[in-house]
Amino acid sequence: MLKVTQQPDVISFGGGLPAPELFPTTAIAEAARAVMETYGPAALQYSLTEGIPEMRRWVAERLTRRLGRIVEADSVTIVNGSQQGLDLVGKVFLDPGDHVVLEDPSYLGAIQAFDAYQTRYLTVDTDEDGLLPDSLERVLERADPFPKFLYLVPNFQNPTGRTLSGPRREQVVRICEEFGLPIFEDDPYNELRFEGGDLPSLLSHPSSAPIIYSGTASKIMAPGMRIAWLVIPDEEIREKVVLAKQGADLHSGTFAQYVFYQYARDGAAFDAHVRRIAATYAIRRDVMATALEEVMPEQARCTHPKGGMFLWITVPGVDTAELLHISARSKVVFVPGVNFYPGRNVHDGMRLNFSNASEKNIRIGVERLAHAVRVYKG
Ligand SMILES: Cc1ncc(COP(=O)(O)O)c(C=O)c1O
Repeated sequence: MLKVTQQPDVISFGGGLPAPELFPTTAIAEAARAVMETYGPAALQYSLTEGIPEMRRWVAERLTRRLGRIVEADSVTIVNGSQQGLDLVGKVFLDPGDHVVLEDPSYLGAIQAFDAYQTRYLTVDTDEDGLLPDSLERVLERADPFPKFLYLVPNFQNPTGRTLSGPRREQVVRICEEFGLPIFEDDPYNELRFEGGDLPSLLSHPSSAPIIYSGTASKIMAPGMRIAWLVIPDEEIREKVVLAKQGADLHSGTFAQYVFYQYARDGAAFDAHVRRIAATYAIRRDVMATALEEVMPEQARCTHPKGGMFLWITVPGVDTAELLHISARSKVVFVPGVNFYPGRNVHDGMRLNFSNASEKNIRIGVERLAHAVRVYKG
């Protein structure tokens, strides 16, 4: 797929790339200059594994405001993208043969990160409102061996764009508490909300079972910075994660952390930038959803995400991995849904990214996709 997307006239709904025209390049250049003037060589020196104190405080303050619950700066570890957080948590928790509980479907990058530790998966059924608490309960009652943690993406999930409803969040935390199962809440998209009010993070619910929360600058500033954060209130787990990070890379880039902090410390300007990204993506979602409705077969079912970067469409009777071969010839690509199912057993879904293509290209790409479906169906 990567080879195909490198051709200039190919429209890609495949990757999870933010819109590069929204990267705040001028502001980042100014922030980089200000960092050199303010911090000088300290911004280029080795620094603490947990992250520079300014960044840890920034994360704690922003989350405290959003969660309505005090997040201590001490509980924050700055990581090299949330993908590193997935790997580090995997390293700390998982031994070969261990089980992890996942939503079905789930984020492919998480499956890849946990696969490296020879993990097996227990999957929980989902519907329009995210994972089903009843299904989670059933899975945990029967689990043998007992899983190490539940991994989930509650807001505008990758790949489906679905959001876990408010009441279910509380239920999920209660069930995990009852079973003593740690939760890994991966939350890269919460700030990219197009409509509706914020739902409480799982971390904002009091629980005796540990909750690990992950956030990232990738979708609200730029993924090339590789700045993300783990919030781990449980001291024992946090120390292990920090040790694992020390062994992996000593610390995340000092310069990148200072530049991000310098850029984001002016809360009003930063919030305005995030709102601009969300407003642009909301338009692209609408354009894609409308175009799909107009040209895809009547039986096709599409999610209508209230935020994030992805939309999920199911076309009954179509193996989307096969469809990709046809659509690539028509110069449009996407990610076949089967890749997101740990059991690799569901074949008629596809993930479409709407953040990275222009409105015009979204319309053209959807036309090409519908053409590919017609060719597939003969
Ligand atoms: C659910 C989820 N987790 C983690 C990541 C990785 O993001 P980062 O750039 O912070 O490593 C992504 C990226 O698409 C994602 O969708």
